[in-house]
Amino acid sequence: MNSKNKIANLNIEWAKTWEEGILNAWSHQYIKKYGSITEAWNHKAPEYVKTMEHSNRAQLVERIKQHKPETVLDVGAGAGIFALPLAATKSVKRVVAVEPSIGMLDILRKKAMEYNLTNIECINKKWEDTATDELIALNRGKYDVVICSHALYYITGLHDAFIKMNDICKGYVYLLIGTDADKDKTYERYYERIYKKPMPLYPDYACLYMVLRELNIHPNIEMLDAYAKRYVNSVEEVIDLWKDNLDGELSEDQRDAIRDYLAESDMVKEENGRLYWEWRAKDALIYWRAGEWKY
Ligand SMILES: C[S@@+](CC[C@H](N)C(=O)[O-])C[C@H]1O[C@@H](n2cnc3c(N)ncnc32)[C@H](O)[C@@H]1O
Repeated sequence: MNSKNKIANLNIEWAKTWEEGILNAWSHQYIKKYGSITEAWNHKAPEYVKTMEHSNRAQLVERIKQHKPETVLDVGAGAGIFALPLAATKSVKRVVAVEPSIGMLDILRKKAMEYNLTNIECINKKWEDTATDELIALNRGKYDVVICSHALYYITGLHDAFIKMNDICKGYVYLLIGTDADKDKTYERYYERIYKKPMPLYPDYACLYMVLRELNIHPNIEMLDAYAKRYVNSVEEVIDLWKDNLDGELSEDQRDAIRDYLAESDMVKEENGRLYWEWRAKDALIYWRAGEWKY
């Protein structure tokens, strides 16, 4: 019995468990509030960029550079946290950024112009709506590296999504995704007071690994320390930023709960007279050499 059949015999729908779990955990709230995931990211783009400015997310760039890629495809590229530094890398001739949110792409294109980068092609589509032929024709061949960072929460049809990433790549495919490996117990205690509902279960990133195993791909997994910090003028500003995750105005009790949570978890700190809001987490880096495994 090959591994594909062994996994299939478990009778667990890993892709469905992931998709429904993410919807339940937070993305149905995005749809309810903004109408669609894409509209949500159009709205969130400027604040997201400010937060990611002081994050270590781009640590993956150094690793990708070791492959000396000439061509890179970035799935759910956002405002270009990977696409921009990679396009500025000596070996890289072309970066293709697939991104459905025009709000994100506008920022990416503006920054590319500021940095005089002319080797980024943008495709304003969901990954599901791109065609293998179109992606390969644009690059006149397969890509050296494919990356997909923190976008798999929103991509539907994971089997097809992974097959497409694998089929258009002649080097490595890198997936970066959040985990709850070092779960914040304090957050769990405050969740219900802040959100006015019990804390939903976050689906495990292992679902993505299992979908790849269903495709007979055996990827590597590494845990990376992730951090981000956001400079703010006051704790009240952090509370106001939090509002975006919730419906309507915050009650006094919700504001108090967020304030207490921030204090108890020591998330708002000071550095050279400037306040910042910091959080730390574990990301999973799932990667494999394309073509190494046969479906
Ligand atoms: C959390 S941001 C990540 C951005 C960037 N890759 C990073 O690591 O910072 C998620 C991105 O996924 C994009 N996205 C949402 N649905 C998508 C889909 N179906 N296909 C491709 N990208 C999608 C969003 O528009 C957003 O820019």
